[in-house]
Amino acid sequence: MASLRVDVLTTFPRAFDGFLDASLLGKARAAGIVEVRVHDLRAWAAEPQRRTDDYAYGGGPGMVLRVEPIVAAVEELRQADGWVGLLTPQAPPLTQPRVQALARRGQLILICGRYEGVDDRVRPLVVDEEISVGDYVLSGGEAAAMVVIDAAARLAPGVVGAAASLQGESHAAGRLSHPQFTRPEEFRGLRAPAVLLSGHHQRVAQWRRAQGLHRTQHLRPDLLVQRGLSNDERALMHQYPPIDTPPPP
Ligand code: ADE
Repeated sequence: MASLRVDVLTTFPRAFDGFLDASLLGKARAAGIVEVRVHDLRAWAAEPQRRTDDYAYGGGPGMVLRVEPIVAAVEELRQADGWVGLLTPQAPPLTQPRVQALARRGQLILICGRYEGVDDRVRPLVVDEEISVGDYVLSGGEAAAMVVIDAAARLAPGVVGAAASLQGESHAAGRLSHPQFTRPEEFRGLRAPAVLLSGHHQRVAQWRRAQGLHRTQHLRPDLLVQRGLSNDERALMHQYPPIDTPPPP
């Protein structure tokens, strides 16, 4: 049985074509570790028209997703360990700790919002949590659902080959990751840092940790305010000064 099952409810199932087969997620699905089912909400909409949306009470532009098909779909699909998320820009933005919690659930049901919104009665009736993928507005929840699926699936046991590559990973550790380099050693006058070519594993590890912290301080100081810096980390940052960093955005 898959360690993570995702059921997506959408009015645009074809938006997921390609995405599901690509890269790590495609491999995880092929290996049976992650199972993703994309459902067309129209399947739960009443005959004869199978309408999933309608005009907003009170007037105004745009259409609102109807409550009945969503509730019927969730009630049919939800398993004992199921968790139901509604993708919407009206929620706190997703973070890595929340993704880690989602990846531990057996089943995620993701409801993709559309149009001007979703009938608000959906929230008390079936939604466990609302999720935004950032403080900007997408035309619908589909791209946001793909973000959630991608981030959660790579944490499912067995998906990312070496568990070590998840341990101490950027964001999970409350900091950004260190800069990476590969061949050639020099390109247009820019050299890869000598320490990375030294073969000295301990120094490489310390340098990387220090650079990750420098980057965080430079680009995302808010993350460091939350987690703080240990004396050990301060000493490492002093020992290994920042490599040239681009100006903050
Ligand atoms: N739907 C529209 N915008 C969104 C966002 N930023 N996050 C999640 N769902 C959305």
